Amino acid sequence: MTCNASLDNQKVKRVFGRKSGRPLNKSRAEVIDSLLPRLCVDEGLLREDGSLSPSSLFDVPYKEFWFEIGFGAGEHLSALMRRHPENAYLGAEPFINGMAAFLKDIKDEPHERIRVHMDDAMMLARSLPDACLDGMYVLNPDPWHKKRHHKRRIISRDNLDVFARILKPGAPLIMTSDVPDLADWMVTEASLHPAFAWRAQCADDWRVPPEDWITTAYEVKGAKGAKIMTYLFFDRV
Ligand SMILES: C[S@@+](CC[C@H](N)C(=O)[O-])C[C@H]1O[C@@H](n2cnc3c(N)ncnc32)[C@H](O)[C@@H]1O
Repeated sequence: MTCNASLDNQKVKRVFGRKSGRPLNKSRAEVIDSLLPRLCVDEGLLREDGSLSPSSLFDVPYKEFWFEIGFGAGEHLSALMRRHPENAYLGAEPFINGMAAFLKDIKDEPHERIRVHMDDAMMLARSLPDACLDGMYVLNPDPWHKKRHHKRRIISRDNLDVFARILKPGAPLIMTSDVPDLADWMVTEASLHPAFAWRAQCADDWRVPPEDWITTAYEVKGAKGAKIMTYLFFDRV
């Protein structure tokens, strides 16, 4: 299996901004060297032509396939894996420090149900076939505040077209943000998209997380003080 996994090759192909931050400590470097090559999606399979069936990435069948984009340090993804051992997961995170934190977290647990991609999530998304995913998470995506950078936002009409294609009918697209402008943008983009329907009926539906919500470290940090979290649940119609 080949992927952009080794420490000798920290460059990633097409990331918007950050690639690596602080040097990795020994234990994080170890999981990048040992676990990432086993769990990353082979770059040769990322043809961005809808030909990569998620089930082909795993040795045994799974009930559902879920994809988390920009998982950061992966607290949400690892909690999901623990909560639903019957499902398989795809995760994309270009930041090597985040990837290392996630891999370190899951290394001593069963982790055959996860495949990761350490680069732009859209490379993996575009490689997946129609209606193959049971749900997607995009939690606290980078806001790209400047207007001229808005086209880099992961929630965009073009990317929503891809998400609409790869999600099964009725499958949820779950998004959050603690940046009010970005939350407005995400609601507008997804609501205007004909393939997505917003579940919200009243303000609490976007202000209050569901009871079983898994809180990320970023969310706790970001939601402190005056900041407001927005929880957006859309369904592929
Ligand atoms: C603000 S952080 C949020 C992390 C995590 N989702 C959370 O809520 O704790 C945004 C994350 O998205 C990642 N990211 C940015 N662009 C991405 C892309 N094109 N594909 C995948 N991940 C991306 C960043 O590296 C970063 O870790």
